[in-house]
Amino acid sequence: MRLLLLTHSFNSLTQRLYVELAEAGHELSVEFDINDAVTREAVELFRPHLILAPYLRRPIPEAVWRHQVCLVVHPGVVGDRGPSALDRAILRDEAQWGVTVLQAEAELDAGPVWAQAAFPMRRATKSSLYRNEVTEAAVQAVLEALARLPDYRAGRWRPRRVPAGPLLPLLSPAERAIDWSRDDTATVLRKLYSADGSPGVEDRLLGHPCRLFDAHPYDASGCPGELLGRAGQGIVRATVDGAVHIGHLRRPDAPLPFKLPALLALPEAAGLAELPARDATIRYEEAQGVGYLHFDFYNGAMGSAACQALQAAYEQARTRPTRAIVLLGGQDFFSNGMDLNLIEAADSPADESWRNIEAMDDLCQAIIETDDRLTIAALRGNAGAGGAFLALAADFVWVREGVVLNPHYRNMGNLYGSEYWTYLLPRRLGEEGARRLMQGRLPLGARAALRLGLIDACLARDHAEFLHEVRRRAAALAHAPDYALRLQRKQAQRAADEARKPLAAHRAEELAHMQRNFYGFDVSYHVARQRFVHKTPHSWTPRHLARHREIGWQVPADD
Ligand code: COA
Repeated sequence: MRLLLLTHSFNSLTQRLYVELAEAGHELSVEFDINDAVTREAVELFRPHLILAPYLRRPIPEAVWRHQVCLVVHPGVVGDRGPSALDRAILRDEAQWGVTVLQAEAELDAGPVWAQAAFPMRRATKSSLYRNEVTEAAVQAVLEALARLPDYRAGRWRPRRVPAGPLLPLLSPAERAIDWSRDDTATVLRKLYSADGSPGVEDRLLGHPCRLFDAHPYDASGCPGELLGRAGQGIVRATVDGAVHIGHLRRPDAPLPFKLPALLALPEAAGLAELPARDATIRYEEAQGVGYLHFDFYNGAMGSAACQALQAAYEQARTRPTRAIVLLGGQDFFSNGMDLNLIEAADSPADESWRNIEAMDDLCQAIIETDDRLTIAALRGNAGAGGAFLALAADFVWVREGVVLNPHYRNMGNLYGSEYWTYLLPRRLGEEGARRLMQGRLPLGARAALRLGLIDACLARDHAEFLHEVRRRAAALAHAPDYALRLQRKQAQRAADEARKPLAAHRAEELAHMQRNFYGFDVSYHVARQRFVHKTPHSWTPRHLARHREIGWQVPADD
């Protein structure tokens, strides 16, 4: 089928559906929901068999849904309506939640139901639930709904009309405001989780209006509401029965109005007492001769200091008597490359970009040059840009089914990219394959990545099962009878590659391009980064997504 994805942006859920629907053999095009006339034009150009709306912020124009089946993905259970579905489910501490696929009609979220899928709720941020449980349920419900289309067209099946509940408005800041004098840690966290990644809970810190993000329980206590101190880059605040650590802040009326580590957003907090840092961001463990390095950076963004800290942890792991090191990334993201927010906040974004890419390259180099044991990247969460190439620096890349990869840089203002991609990508895909992937600029699912040869294994979709499989496989590799032979082959291959073209030459060439991106006449990277960090709304759909706007696009004649 020809499917048009009508969406507010190409967010993680839309990307995942794109990948799954492409995998199922459908022909896809994307249009951002910007303007009714443009939406109508997209429908006329693409003539889709069905319109799917995975992420909308306003109703579909009547001129579209009257003539065409439009299915809306609502991140809520049947009967739930309104834009803050998941926020409210978290605040109410629902044990179960779900996704409903319903047909667009005049009344928002009140059309007949095509499919639904349920999931148990987890104590996690809204964005983590959205990226995991909601996305999995949405994939399942959308595929079910699409399978019903032939019967619907033949008049053999009708979507179910259900009594719709009231249309609840956008959640107001007051509904999740924290009452520090009364709320216990669990309540404070629920409120914070319901607003993370966006819009954040509105609060005041040291007299400044702030939005709070990246909260975790912290082992301390004090007068309820008291700022107990700073820990790492975060701030610790007492609740009635404990404390929470706030890692990131946004100060909408400050000169840097985007999300930043708390201490950077609020420099006055440097005067607070120093408390032990949370040690959860980078964590190392060992089992059966294998070292496991977890690194869970907020939003997968890795600034210069994060790269250096991870490299230090990696070097430390290399001093241990293990036979393999597994890079596990975080639960939601493996890595999204350089930290664009920190770069935007720097006095010289060009200089900070340069420092950040050098730090990423140093980290990748340390992994590529590891010749005394095997290295494995095990991706539980999505990876994009430099973060995807960081994974390719390992000898083996194992990916959880359902993970979406964006192994290209050009969407960030035609950034050339580094992280030794000119070495890592052709060694897996060949020169032509590497070029095609980089230019395609499209997300890639784990199964498609495996078919291409970009990764070595696509493992269980379930997080716990995936980890279990990774541990089993890593231990098996480390103790396999051919371990020594494998290691020898790896050393020989690296030596041969180095003789053909030294790593230093790859890095120098890539960085020469990056220098032009950062300091040159063409400022596309800086403009794209600003738009990304400030979340500037889209004013058009990028050409690589809107196939119906490609020159020469025609609806097939036999249609
Ligand atoms: N630096 C800082 N923040 C980043 C980031 C980065 N490199 N990559 C993602 N984020 C943030 C987003 O701003 C967003 O923030 P929010 O919590 O305030 O909403 C959050 O992470 C989730 O990102 P989002 O874009 O919504 O995720 P996605 O899964 O829909 O898309 C990507 C994934 C990888 C396509 C997209 O995040 C991206 O293009 N990132 C930039 C990658 C990049 O160019 N890195 C620099 C070059 S190495």
